Amino acid sequence: MTRFAVLISGKGSNLRAILDFWANPPIAYPAHLSAPVLVVSNRPGVPGLAVAEAAGVPAQVVDHTAFSSRAAFEEALDATLRRHEVQWLVLAGFMRLLSPEFVRRWAGRMLNTHPALLPAFPGPRGPADAVAAGVKVSGCTVHFVDEGMDTGAIIAQAAVPVLDTDTAESLGSRIRRVEHRIYPKVVAKVLAGQFRVEGRVVHLEGGGP
Ligand code: GRF
Repeated sequence: MTRFAVLISGKGSNLRAILDFWANPPIAYPAHLSAPVLVVSNRPGVPGLAVAEAAGVPAQVVDHTAFSSRAAFEEALDATLRRHEVQWLVLAGFMRLLSPEFVRRWAGRMLNTHPALLPAFPGPRGPADAVAAGVKVSGCTVHFVDEGMDTGAIIAQAAVPVLDTDTAESLGSRIRRVEHRIYPKVVAKVLAGQFRVEGRVVHLEGGGP
């Protein structure tokens, strides 16, 4: 069984989608091969922690403000993950930049969902940047995490229309609805080993989600 942790910083709607999927996986997906064994938030008191608790998944806070350096925070985070024998990391709205050392330690075993069609609009304001640029299509990208900011190999993408009337909030919530649909499926396939990487190209078995 592959043991994975979900890292969050806020609302946890993607965490909820993952937990719902795991509770009731469609037959075509090998979700039974893995289990979310831990949720870690770098912020205390966020709604995502309650989402984990309601599902009976152990939830821990590693509060980055309690540490004097990024290295000390990451050491504590890593120790928590090791204590729970975590093998894979699934980032779901985790809003801390991770150091190259941490990323190297988890290389090839860390996934993220980003609210834009990468490589367009990386960084923390994906929906706002898309609205400001006036693009007509945006979406979400599930990718491996590498040492750059949202630069890892792309695993899956889904597009959503951008309306002339959209704000960052309205576009962000339309994108989140699509993330909730595809992220759990992609996580399930990747954790079950149903993928192959060829340079920058990630092939998911059976195609996209
Ligand atoms: C998602 O849109 C994700 O792409 C981004 O942060 C948002 C997290 O939302 N990285 P939630 O906490 O899962 O509701």
